[in-house]
Amino acid sequence: MTILNRHAEQMTPFIVMEVLERATELEKQGHNIIHLEVGEPDFDMPICIAEAASQAQSEGLTHYTHSLGSLELREAIALFYLQEYGVKVSPDCIVVTSGSSPAILMALMAICNADDEVIISNPGYPCYRNFALACRATPVEVNVEAEDGFQYDIEKLKAAITTKTKAIFVNSPMNPSGTLVEDKVFEALAKLNIPILSDEIYHGLVYEGRARSILEFTDNAFVVNGFSKRFAMTGLRLGYLIAPKAYMRTLQILQQNLFICAPSTAQAAGIAALKKSKADIDNMLQVYNESRIYMIKRLRAIGFEIKTEPKGAFYVLADARKFTSDSYHFAFDVLENAHVGITPGVDFGSNGEGFIRFSYANSLENIVEGLNRIEKYLISD
Ligand SMILES: Cc1ncc(COP(=O)(O)O)c(C=O)c1O
Repeated sequence: MTILNRHAEQMTPFIVMEVLERATELEKQGHNIIHLEVGEPDFDMPICIAEAASQAQSEGLTHYTHSLGSLELREAIALFYLQEYGVKVSPDCIVVTSGSSPAILMALMAICNADDEVIISNPGYPCYRNFALACRATPVEVNVEAEDGFQYDIEKLKAAITTKTKAIFVNSPMNPSGTLVEDKVFEALAKLNIPILSDEIYHGLVYEGRARSILEFTDNAFVVNGFSKRFAMTGLRLGYLIAPKAYMRTLQILQQNLFICAPSTAQAAGIAALKKSKADIDNMLQVYNESRIYMIKRLRAIGFEIKTEPKGAFYVLADARKFTSDSYHFAFDVLENAHVGITPGVDFGSNGEGFIRFSYANSLENIVEGLNRIEKYLISD
């Protein structure tokens, strides 16, 4: 007899991972695949960070830390928020997590009761919906449109709010579109009197304009952030949650029970990342920006439409409706025939259908080759 939890049953696959898994199979068969699907920096983490991790290991810093994370790291995070955004965060209001993903989970666990509602954008990061389901909450989608720069329309958002709404997700720079949330949207969100769950994981990867922290607008907020993207530390699994003081004891208890603490060597690496890696990160930013500019120009030349140019993260969400109305099959066709991994827009919600997300977290050489292959495939089709 199969017993399946009904919430788990409602969860949808993370399609980008399925594309990646198929791509890996093709690679095993000897095909050369260009990866424009994954949201993972192709840079190795800066040497100063790697050294800090191995030093921690050789010095025996391999034990459990405080459940909230080492005080030195939490102080470094607090200083970082002060320097970057001018906001005061107490180290006591930070819980260091194993990547930002557990931070999202724990925030929702601390906020939601069964059948509460959580507002997310459509398109948006697909896992938000499934984290909400894991917490027995109901994800409520609000469509955001390419012609509006994928910004929340505040009137539409207000119409989605009910007495059960317990949190609103915002993500800037946004995955999948790379757009920055406008100040006026943050201001409006702050006035809603509902906790805002601001995913700031792509902060630091901004090429035009400035990413704003929700904490510049309201304290009624949970900040999710981490080291995976900005510092190219995906495999070290290090993130954090900044939360209002009233929630901290609950979050600490959740962390103690579910995860105990974040990995100790990764925490030591995180301190080096915040204190020593600026020059390396500036260098990465320059490379990403060149790739961004090239990719936008080239995708448009191939026939993809880009209404709002991405200003951050490492993604372009391009309208592919000239070529397909079925982004899922299109992505797998391109993978099988042109040997390029791309992510179907439908992975990010029904309103992402007809779009394709291209990641430029790859070398310019690979991006050029990948787009050449796609162009050739589309012409021959
Ligand atoms: C918007 C967003 N939030 C969170 C994450 C999770 O990142 P991690 O758990 O590696 O910190 C990702 C990963 O792709 C993401 O795109």
